[in-house]
Amino acid sequence: MGVEIRVEGLTKAFGRQVIWQDVSLTIPAGEISVLLGPSGTGKSVFLKTLVGLLKPDRGHIWIGDRDLPNLPEAQLYETRKLFGVLFQDGALFGSMNIFDNIAFPLREHTKKSESEVKRIVLEKMDLVGLIGAEHKLPGEISGGMKKRAGLARALVLDPEILLVDEPDSGLDPVRTAFLNQVFIDLNAQIGATFLIVTHDINTARTVPDNIGLLYQRHLAMFGPREMLLSSEEPVVRQFLNASKIGPIGMSEEKDESELEAEAKMGLDSGMLPPIPPQQMPSNGLVRRGMHAPGAWCAAHGVTPPPGSFIDELGRNWIEEWPRYVASMSAGAGAAAPGGYPPGGGHYPGDMPPGQPGAGARY
Ligand SMILES: Nc1ncnc2c1ncn2[C@@H]1O[C@H](COP(=O)(O)OP(=O)(O)O)[C@@H](O)[C@H]1O
Ligand SMILES: [Mg+2]
Repeated sequence: MGVEIRVEGLTKAFGRQVIWQDVSLTIPAGEISVLLGPSGTGKSVFLKTLVGLLKPDRGHIWIGDRDLPNLPEAQLYETRKLFGVLFQDGALFGSMNIFDNIAFPLREHTKKSESEVKRIVLEKMDLVGLIGAEHKLPGEISGGMKKRAGLARALVLDPEILLVDEPDSGLDPVRTAFLNQVFIDLNAQIGATFLIVTHDINTARTVPDNIGLLYQRHLAMFGPREMLLSSEEPVVRQFLNASKIGPIGMSEEKDESELEAEAKMGLDSGMLPPIPPQQMPSNGLVRRGMHAPGAWCAAHGVTPPPGSFIDELGRNWIEEWPRYVASMSAGAGAAAPGGYPPGGGHYPGDMPPGQPGAGARY
C-alpha cells in the first residue's frame, strides 16, 4: 500500500565530480512525486542510489527503520524487493517476447507455478493496457508499448515503491498524456509510492502530488504541487513555467539586454500562470495521495494565481471536488483523501510557502 522514503543529507560524487549534495526530502507514502531537473543534474543517479544500485558517499535513505546505504548485503537484497523500477530505455530483453520479459522477475525471484505466473503477468498487462501483445518481440512494438511492457514488468512483484525514469523520453505528447493517465490510474489501484523522473514541465504541473527540483548539485525545493506552482523562488519559478527569464541557462542563449527587452515587451509579465487542476483517475477510483484542489494554498495563506483549478471545460475544481469524491469509490488506501490541516502541512519537515528546501543553495 506504499511506504514513505525519508532521505537525509544524501551526497553522491563520482571521483571528484560531486553530482548532488545534502539532499533531504520525505517522499510521502502512496503519493505521486515527480523529480524535475535539467539533464545531467543527476536524476537517474538519484533513482539508482535510492534502489541501492549506487552507493552514496554520505547520508541516509530510511524506509521504516531500515537505512538502505548501511544495510548488510542480505537485507539490502530483501529491501530491494519493495521497489519496482522502470528504467529510461525500458531495458527489455530483445530476444524474449513480451510475456516472457514481464514474467522474468517472477521466474527469477519466486517459486510460483507457471499457471500463477501466467495469471499475474496477464493481470499486470491488463493494468497497463497491453493485453494482446504477449507474443510480440520488443522490436515489433511501438515505443509507448515498450514503456508499458517495462512498467508491467516493474509491477509483477507488487512493489511498495515504483521508480520511473523519464517515461516520456522519446514519446510524442499524445502518448505521454496516455502514459501519464496510466500512472495515475495505477496509483489509484495499487496505492504504491511513485517517484517519476521527468523533464516534461506539463507532466510535472498536472500529474503529481509533490514536485522536487534538482538544480546545480542541490535539491532546490521539494513539496506539494501547489507549493511549487505558486512559488516565487526564481529557479523554481523559471523551471516550472518554462520561462526564458530567470537564473537558469541564460548565458548560453541570450545576453542581459535581450532578456530585458523581452521583459519590457511583456513576455514573462511577472504574473504566475494559473495552477492547473490535477489530472484525475479515469478508472472511477479516488487516489489516496490526492488533496482537495486549493487546500495547500488555503492552509498556507497563499492566494493562487487567477484562473487556477479551472479545467478546459470551465469547471472550477475547488467547487467540483466534494461532488467528485462523493461519486467515486476509494482506491487502495484511499480512506480519507482531502485537505491539509490548517496552518501546517502534513509532511514532516514541510517548508514555508515559497521558500527553498532544507539545504538549498545554488
Ligand atoms: N556510473 C557513473 N560513473 C561516473 N559518472 C556517472 C555515472 N553515472 C552518471 N554519471 C555522471 O553523473 C551525472 C548525472 O547523470 P544522470 O543522473 O544520468 O543525469 P540526468 O538523469 O539528470 O540527466 C552526469 O555527469 C553523468 O556523466
Ligand atoms: Mg537520466
